[in-house]
Amino acid sequence: MRMYDIIVKKRNGGELTKEEIQFFVNGYTGGRIPDYQAAALLMAIYFRGMSKKETADLTMAMVNSGETVDLSAIEGVKVDKHSTGGVGDKISLIVIPLVASLGIPVAKMSGRGLGHTGGTIDKLESIPGFRTELTGEEFIYNVNKYKMAISGQSGNLVPADKKLYALRDVTATVDSIPLIASSIMSKKIASGADCIVLDVKAGSGAFMKSVEEACELAGTMVEIGKSLKRKIVAVVTDMSQPLGHEVGNSNEVIEAIDVLKGKGPRDETEVALTIASHMAVLGGAYEDFEKAQVELKEVIRTGKAIDKLKLLIQIQGGDPDVVDNIEKLPKAKYHVEVRAVEEGYVTSIDAECIGVSAMLLGAGRKTKEDKIDYSAGISMKKKVGDKTQPGDILCVLHTNLQDTGEAEQIALKAYSIGNKQKIIEKYIYDVIG
Ligand code: URA
Repeated sequence: MRMYDIIVKKRNGGELTKEEIQFFVNGYTGGRIPDYQAAALLMAIYFRGMSKKETADLTMAMVNSGETVDLSAIEGVKVDKHSTGGVGDKISLIVIPLVASLGIPVAKMSGRGLGHTGGTIDKLESIPGFRTELTGEEFIYNVNKYKMAISGQSGNLVPADKKLYALRDVTATVDSIPLIASSIMSKKIASGADCIVLDVKAGSGAFMKSVEEACELAGTMVEIGKSLKRKIVAVVTDMSQPLGHEVGNSNEVIEAIDVLKGKGPRDETEVALTIASHMAVLGGAYEDFEKAQVELKEVIRTGKAIDKLKLLIQIQGGDPDVVDNIEKLPKAKYHVEVRAVEEGYVTSIDAECIGVSAMLLGAGRKTKEDKIDYSAGISMKKKVGDKTQPGDILCVLHTNLQDTGEAEQIALKAYSIGNKQKIIEKYIYDVIG
């Protein structure tokens, strides 16, 4: 078999066989196929797409490129969730303690941010002492004893995705439905959970810019999960503007604490409760979505959920006192206000621009090697539907960098101001599965 022939076949719109896909994945992971040929195939897939069978074969070839996690030592049905990535998306920080408060084992494998999107592992590492690399034994022990654990992906879990994702990130081939679906589902299958809830983001801050594309991605992932006997639900949620008011690492932790204390923003709270309710139903604790939602609101009201977050921080080596003393979290030196120049209403906010601006302030990585500044980020003072006057603060940039010129320009450009008020009423577009 030759890589050249596989590229030609896909470039001409052909359907790749399981063997051809395995040849590519194994050869690329093993270093026998060079980046330039892999990049050519990725671009051909980007334009020609993949059939359901090809996408499923690609997913399994990626799962088999490394180790898989065996969670059978954990009692009960294990639930995981995954987001396709967004800006200000701190849902995992909220739902892990929330769902665990109901006694459902949450075994969460998470990743780091790249480009304009944030990652849960980076957010948690802004908590002094928090350990995100657990051994397999620690992970299983914590889920059994405390009903929750979160860990970064261990070294040899889906190595094909690590290499392919890094290549896609620099070859403009991230936003392809079969490539995203196989990337996410290979990690979820390899990390061993019985039930998976996917938060598929739609809008300017997501890889899928339209709700239609997001629903197609959701359907593709649900089919892959079902064919591999996983219980799976995909919730398509709004990412047309940053979620909540905070973007960055330590300030997203603060906002997650607010949600768990019952005083978080409406959009963030609604999305978190929806994802958590699906996790509770899939995990078998409740038959009924509404009943699960009532119980989840109750664990927030009674303080059980916030206590569970404190426990999560403590058992993973962090300082649980940050929950009541947020000044213990990293804080930036400079706070730069971005002000409106026109009168009107905020009609849209380009969430990807806000993500890029936050990255330039130090909250994200331009390359995989970059170090993160956990205190850097953006507080969104105005969101879609809000009225503005010239001079009003639209958002505040937090950073330790002295030169914020480019980040300021991008943040200002993210805001569109018009005469007609637009209200975003819907945060949940669809539920598939
Ligand atoms: N998240 C992933 O893990 N993979 C993708 O391809 C996109 C988002």
